[in-house]
Amino acid sequence: MTTFRELIDSSRVIICAGSGGVGKTTTAAVLAIDAARAGRRAVVVTIDPAKRLADALGLPALAPDPVVIDPAHWSREDSVPGGRLSAMMLDPKATFDALVARHAADDAQATRILENGFYRTISSALGGTQEYMAMEKLHELHEDGDDDLIVIDTPPSRHALDFLDAPERLLRLLDNRVFRVLIAPARTGLRVAGVAVQALVRTASRVVGTEVVDDIVAFFRAFEGMEEGFRERARRVRQVIGEPTTQFVLVTSPRRDAVLEAEHFAQAIGDHGYRVAGLVVNRVHPQFGTGRGDVLHARGAALRDLPRADAAVTAARHRLADRLETLGDFQEVAARERRHLEGVRLRLGTGAAVAFVPFLPHDVHDVGALDAIARRLLDDDGT
Ligand SMILES: Nc1ncnc2c1ncn2[C@@H]1O[C@H](COP(=O)(O)OP(=O)(O)OP(=O)(O)O)[C@@H](O)[C@H]1O
Ligand SMILES: [Mg+2]
Repeated sequence: MTTFRELIDSSRVIICAGSGGVGKTTTAAVLAIDAARAGRRAVVVTIDPAKRLADALGLPALAPDPVVIDPAHWSREDSVPGGRLSAMMLDPKATFDALVARHAADDAQATRILENGFYRTISSALGGTQEYMAMEKLHELHEDGDDDLIVIDTPPSRHALDFLDAPERLLRLLDNRVFRVLIAPARTGLRVAGVAVQALVRTASRVVGTEVVDDIVAFFRAFEGMEEGFRERARRVRQVIGEPTTQFVLVTSPRRDAVLEAEHFAQAIGDHGYRVAGLVVNRVHPQFGTGRGDVLHARGAALRDLPRADAAVTAARHRLADRLETLGDFQEVAARERRHLEGVRLRLGTGAAVAFVPFLPHDVHDVGALDAIARRLLDDDGT
């Protein structure tokens, strides 16, 4: 697979990953819109899109499920019939609630959890909740089988691939010894809870108040019997991610620090046994032709050194020298950006599609701007 065209046409799942602010949400939207225009049924799960982008797509605020986007927002004259675009903004709390409702033994257990004060705090604030819920939504949409392509945006994370580890983290929380002891009283009475845990609970009560601690204990108790469901779910999420039609698209800026992070991501994705099929280098400076920066600078200097002429000619020479030097500066920046990328490209190998997307003079908040990016993604041969 060496082009984004092939990647979009042949994938069932595309996960857009990368460090904060590089253009993951933008890329996810572009890929899904393009798939819909190519006649596929595509759904994009976005995380915190800019409000203006959501408005431009006619995306309602936080909905528990994807909504079908009116083709008036994305379709073009050359769109292949049969395409459909759905989109949603991920609402971690609503997804978590739905997950609890699904795995609870009965309505009473679900209500106990959903109304628990501690649950209400952590379900939106717990680190990694967004990541976990993105994976959860992926699994749900995959299971529904209603779409040909699912594009998943991922939240900004400082730690590479939090979202891949999120299901395990939730399981570790449920597996935690403290948790086990806390739910034990439901079966055997608080007296058998370890002395250390009792002391911990007493101390915690003094610090945060008995009510909060009661909430926390009730929270863990309310989850009793649900670990198995979560464990099975996490296993199936890993399975979906591991399928050969699931592809990672890595997004990066050409800045040195961002590229190093992208290399780190590529390594981590590889360590998990998955492969990066596409690299989007976003916000690159343009490369104008093949002229080298140092050569352009030398030409500018030579112009300035020419023997004296009359004032008008000298002024014209200086203006031309200025322009050659500015162009030379641009070429140097562009060349430097491409040098930064050598390492990550080497790591990805020749099998990955690579596209350079220019720094646009404005934010990407309407379909016209998304189109400008789509053109670069689809026409760029990665050089
Ligand atoms: N090529 C571009 N030229 C100009 N602006 C861009 C370009 N790509 C993205 N942007 C703008 O940069 C901002 C960040 O892009 P985006 O939201 O897609 O990044 P992100 O990786 O999803 O960020 P976060 O990690 O915060 O979720 C947005 O305002 C977007 O419109
Ligand atoms: Mg984003």
